[in-house]
Amino acid sequence: MDRGFLFGDAVYEVIPVFGGHPLRLAHHLRRLDYSLSAVRIPPPLTAAEMTQLCERLIADHGGGDQILYLQVTRGVAAARDHQFGSDLRPTLFAMSRPASPPSAAPPAAIAAVVAEDIRWHRCDIKTTALLGGVMLIQQALAAGAAEALLVRDGRVWEGASSNVFGVLDGVLRTAPLGPRVLAGITRDLVLELARAHRLPCREEALTVAELARVSELWITSSTRELVPVTQLDGRPVGSGVVGPLFYNMWHWYQTFRQQVSSGVRAPDAPVQE
Ligand code: PDD
Repeated sequence: MDRGFLFGDAVYEVIPVFGGHPLRLAHHLRRLDYSLSAVRIPPPLTAAEMTQLCERLIADHGGGDQILYLQVTRGVAAARDHQFGSDLRPTLFAMSRPASPPSAAPPAAIAAVVAEDIRWHRCDIKTTALLGGVMLIQQALAAGAAEALLVRDGRVWEGASSNVFGVLDGVLRTAPLGPRVLAGITRDLVLELARAHRLPCREEALTVAELARVSELWITSSTRELVPVTQLDGRPVGSGVVGPLFYNMWHWYQTFRQQVSSGVRAPDAPVQE
């Protein structure tokens, strides 16, 4: 009778771990708190206890590179009823799985499709109620692509399970934060790296017309990291090959990742100018 199971009444986090160090754990835990408070689920543990739990999970799985998953549901109710009382005790579920070791070569480019965003109006909340995203990914796969770029009101906001970056006239663009996008932790990092390296960037969603003119397109997420998109709806993006800014950003990200992995850089530290 857990409401996470019955209603998708739950929120979650996915946290990459490099060399035993959880990347931006404090950011992930802050976003978890944001999601919990948005749906009025009381936090099951304090931030310090949650940090300890993550550290124990990482150690129990032998350190190294992992993907941590945290989920908090509203808890088990006596009966299936849409309304919830304040007497429920949240269920906390946590797991970790090994991540594939970092590759020395940049990731292979993917194809994407453009799709109408059929999800709800609070995409800033990281809820496990992901059926919209699941259907959109399947739609992309059926078209021979690996991600769906989601459109509302003529603009691209994010991917079905990623944030979206485009390079237009030399400026890196991504949608601004708000109810239409998840505040991606990888998105943050990419913006910080761009600013630190003086790459012009702007938080303004690309229009569908602009999308047809971008020279580069990337998606970002904790599990996929940075991936170039070179085909959109069967047509080449820009010249149809991975662009120079992607290679730069990928290199900056790898350097950051290696520093976190080797313990040289604190996993929560901001990128230095
Ligand atoms: N999803 N937007 C959506 C809709 C997402 O599902 C995700 C990540 C992101 C990227 O956020 P971050 O950089 O913090 O991972 C953006 C995770 C990885 C998942 O559901 O598995």
